[in-house]
Amino acid sequence: MSDSEARRAELRGLIGADGVLTEAHDTAPYLVDERRLYRGSALAVVLPRDVEQVARIVGWCNQHRVGVVPQGGNTGYCGGATPDESGLQLLLSLRRLNRIRAVDAGNFSITAEAGCVLASVQRAADAAERFFPLSLGSEGSCQIGGNLATNAGGLNVVRYGMARELLLGIEAVLPDGEILNGLKSLRKDNTGYDLKSLLVGSEGTLGVITAATLKLWPKMRSSATAFVAIATPAHAVGLLGLLKAAAGERLSSFELLPRIAIELTTRHIGGVSDPLTVAFPWYILCELTASADEPLSELLQQILADAAERSLILDAALATSERARSAFWRLRETVPEAQRHAGSSLKHDISVPVASLPEFIDEASLWVRSHVTDGVLVCYGHAGDGNLHFNINCIDQERSAAFLAQEPRIRRAIHDLVAKFAGSISAEHGIGRLKRAELQRYASPVALAAMRSIKGALDPNGIMNPGKLL
Ligand code: FAD
Ligand code: MLT
Ligand code: ZN
Repeated sequence: MSDSEARRAELRGLIGADGVLTEAHDTAPYLVDERRLYRGSALAVVLPRDVEQVARIVGWCNQHRVGVVPQGGNTGYCGGATPDESGLQLLLSLRRLNRIRAVDAGNFSITAEAGCVLASVQRAADAAERFFPLSLGSEGSCQIGGNLATNAGGLNVVRYGMARELLLGIEAVLPDGEILNGLKSLRKDNTGYDLKSLLVGSEGTLGVITAATLKLWPKMRSSATAFVAIATPAHAVGLLGLLKAAAGERLSSFELLPRIAIELTTRHIGGVSDPLTVAFPWYILCELTASADEPLSELLQQILADAAERSLILDAALATSERARSAFWRLRETVPEAQRHAGSSLKHDISVPVASLPEFIDEASLWVRSHVTDGVLVCYGHAGDGNLHFNINCIDQERSAAFLAQEPRIRRAIHDLVAKFAGSISAEHGIGRLKRAELQRYASPVALAAMRSIKGALDPNGIMNPGKLL
């Protein structure tokens, strides 16, 4: 028996034969990332059923110095959930840890296992007359463990914050195979270092998240959604100020879209149509929500009338039905899919302070226009959080290879500009394998040294997701 075969047999002994996949046709879907940037190989794909099985596997990996790559829904954009090509690492899928353990409506909290698909957590909250606000275009397949491991952002951050801010307690398996049982549901708990927060955004490099207790809100009873035309991103910042001042915490989404996003989605996604009759350069999709019955449409109309008087907006369509609201959101959420249909693209998930968005967009767009003649800019995103998906699509698919070959110089120019604006080179998608060198370049040496110390202290054998993040 080869070394690999002997190890696979040991793994079967730990969690049962049905939890260990080794045949190529079974393992293949786990070994390629969402963007098809990386293809890996693995000793095996393991599918534990509970936290004890995860602990057994990680303990075994630590003992045998086998690298372990946690994987949730495999929707991440930075190759963090794909093993390397050596065939020596273990892919640990959380998909079978998919139970909602408890919904505590009185405490406004829910405890879900890491492998619960995000949409199922939202549904469980809804069934208890509660609301779980994390919302991403990938919510039908990404998992809550992956959301926490990447500190996901998405469409409601302007009101509720990122995944980290939704977390009350965590259960995780640490690199030595010990179970950290921190599933508290407390709003206040100042008892030393915040270990749960350390695991959030650690992208599988400090341990395996197996369950989480998350905050819930009262179920939303009213909403008002508008698709607003504006002339420039500077007008978006002005409109955001008005909305925040007049609607306060009711403002839950504020998304920026360029004209080309409408063109791409109407061309490539069935059933999507332009909400307005005339073409405009930029758009804002904004939404107000409330847990009580409130006249939010009237409020939004008043704010938009005020914005029109101040020449901040050019036109607007208000959703008059749930169907119209869904249509606005479908347009927004399918921009990445439409971009994919349009061919190869380069993605830059960046953030700058909200007030700097217009200047950043001006400077960065000018650079793209003058230096990337075979690309078209598709710059959209969570403008309410200062987060842009500053993406560039290849114009001529026949020359896609030449377009993609420019990636290093384009990335450098855009990220240098982000640094000039004191921004972030990864606002919400993480570092993974894709942006490791970028982290080394843009993070402060002091921060990097502290991160390495933490990694070394918790994972001295370097078994957790080797080759990712640091
Ligand atoms: P995976 O891709 O499986 O893993 C991501 C990372 O987390 C890897 O490093 C992996 O090792 C680690 N990991 C996964 N599970 C665990 C665990 N249980 N314990 C420890 N580590 C773990 N992201 C946003 O932030 N905002 C968006 O608006 C957004 N929109 C998207 C839209 C589309 C159409 C798509 C395809 C993706 C989008 N994403 C977005 C990116 C992606 O969905 C998120 O990063 C998501 O949080 C990843 O979750 P996942 O379960 O798929 O994780
Ligand atoms: C989004 O906000 O749609 C995603 O984070 C960006 C993307 O999928 O490229
Ligand atoms: Zn996004």
